[in-house]
Amino acid sequence: MNLADKTEKTFALTTPLYYVNDVPHVGSAYTTMAADVIARFYRLLGRQVLLITGTDEHGQKIQRSAESVGKAPQEFCDEIVPSFANLWQLLNIQYDRFSRTTATRHEAIVKEFFYRVWEKGDIYQGQQKGWYCVSCEEFKEERELLEGHRCPIHTNKEVEWRDEQNYFFRLSKYQEQLQEFYQSQPNFIQPESRRNEVLNFVEQGLQDFSISRVNLDWGFPVPTDPNHTLYVWFDALLGYVTALLEPDAEPTLANALATWWPINLHLIGKDILRFHAVYWPAMLMSAGLPLPKRVFGHGFLTKDGQKMGKALGNTLDPVALVQRYGSDAVRYYFLKEIEFGKDGDFNEVRFINVLNADLANDLGNLLNRTLNMVKKYCAGDVLSIAHEAISAENPLKAIGLPLGEQVKQAYEALAFSQACEAILLLVQASNKFIDDQAPWSLYKQGQQQEVEKVLYAVLESVRLAAYLLSPVIPNISSDIYQQLGFGIDFNNQRDTAITAPFSTHATWGVLSSKQHLGTPRPIFKRIELLKND
Ligand code: MSP
Repeated sequence: MNLADKTEKTFALTTPLYYVNDVPHVGSAYTTMAADVIARFYRLLGRQVLLITGTDEHGQKIQRSAESVGKAPQEFCDEIVPSFANLWQLLNIQYDRFSRTTATRHEAIVKEFFYRVWEKGDIYQGQQKGWYCVSCEEFKEERELLEGHRCPIHTNKEVEWRDEQNYFFRLSKYQEQLQEFYQSQPNFIQPESRRNEVLNFVEQGLQDFSISRVNLDWGFPVPTDPNHTLYVWFDALLGYVTALLEPDAEPTLANALATWWPINLHLIGKDILRFHAVYWPAMLMSAGLPLPKRVFGHGFLTKDGQKMGKALGNTLDPVALVQRYGSDAVRYYFLKEIEFGKDGDFNEVRFINVLNADLANDLGNLLNRTLNMVKKYCAGDVLSIAHEAISAENPLKAIGLPLGEQVKQAYEALAFSQACEAILLLVQASNKFIDDQAPWSLYKQGQQQEVEKVLYAVLESVRLAAYLLSPVIPNISSDIYQQLGFGIDFNNQRDTAITAPFSTHATWGVLSSKQHLGTPRPIFKRIELLKND
């Protein structure tokens, strides 16, 4: 397959590989939900998608977490990893690969990669002196630190002084090549504000970074010097490559890179931008490999203005949230309410209000009352109207016709909130339309054709909304589709009935008299605020 064909047909994307120092919190869930929405959207377009997630298990942070509970690190990791897989299942995340950095096959990939860089002359021994944040697993500049030598991200953690022999990667050698790359690929780093951050950082001059540790057992040994272990980030980034291996393939770089490389999108939080947008491309340049297409750094979920995180201990339990409200509700809230790329605060009252307003009232009630009207005012369970009968001036048709393309562009730009809002406008217009047209009066006046036209326009708009929202709320969208008489389950995207026709289902006017409308039942139960909440 040549590269042009490949990019047309496939789409590989990654979430970060999560540290397993603790069970996942809502912050880690946020990236994964967004990644799943993108994966589902590209599957709707008919692309072959590979969604990669996994866990990052080496390094001092994990070693210390294991020690603190008196466990061996591997045993500790093995116990934490299932909590990630379980949460992804609860959140209805359809990932294709789960990459663990402690896997034996990963070690083979890391070794081969290390030797490529080694043979290029880009690794040398030197003395590393500096302040280290174990929670970030990163050296910090003195000027970045808060009072009392605390980390700017993990504000309750003090950085630690290090002065030791390490192996270094010659990052400085790649400064110009990186700058040329950023110029020639202006979309590589997104959003724009993050791109500028990286450009400024690189412009200040790149320093080589250490890629090994002494006095730390929990990591792969440096292939050329077993007295050192590899720095956790050097091994973690390569976890993306290992994940590309077919399950039974021999773990070689050639096998890993054969089908899905280069990765189309790395989805990350803004705190790990430098690793993905500077270190990673430089490592790949050194190894002589093509670079990923795009890195998107989203914002932080905050609680009282501070980054929610395990190290700060101010997290929200995603399992409890999903068990209480369901996966679609949680997915919808985070993607619709927070502009992707910006920080966003979580507030439970707002959470409930948004879900009740958008899903229970605007969308749910609309479908329910319209289907009930069909039962009441129309013979049988079909509408004997074709979309051609609806004039171009019909306000819902006017909004609906260009909506598919608009929403497609929003998803492609990862502007999820914009996509949801555009769809909701059609839903709100439909509510207004039905009130204005008052089909109950038209029925009394004996205007059967007009009644059916109104009901058709509304149901078709609900259908289109459900289709376009399906990457975000696949359960609700499937439920709506079933009630409209389509045997389509958006959780089964391998079903060709939905993968093929984005161009047909994403336009207004698909509903036909062939659809036997189903029995109306609520798609989203209104959430009542409990008295003791
Ligand atoms: N292990 C590294 C990633 C290695 S990738 C090869 C790591 N892990 S992490 O578990 O600490 O964080 C993973 C992701 O979760 C990061 O993208 C981070 O930005 C994101 N989040 C962690 N806390 C977050 C919030 N409070 N809000 C939003 N995202 C946050 O970094």
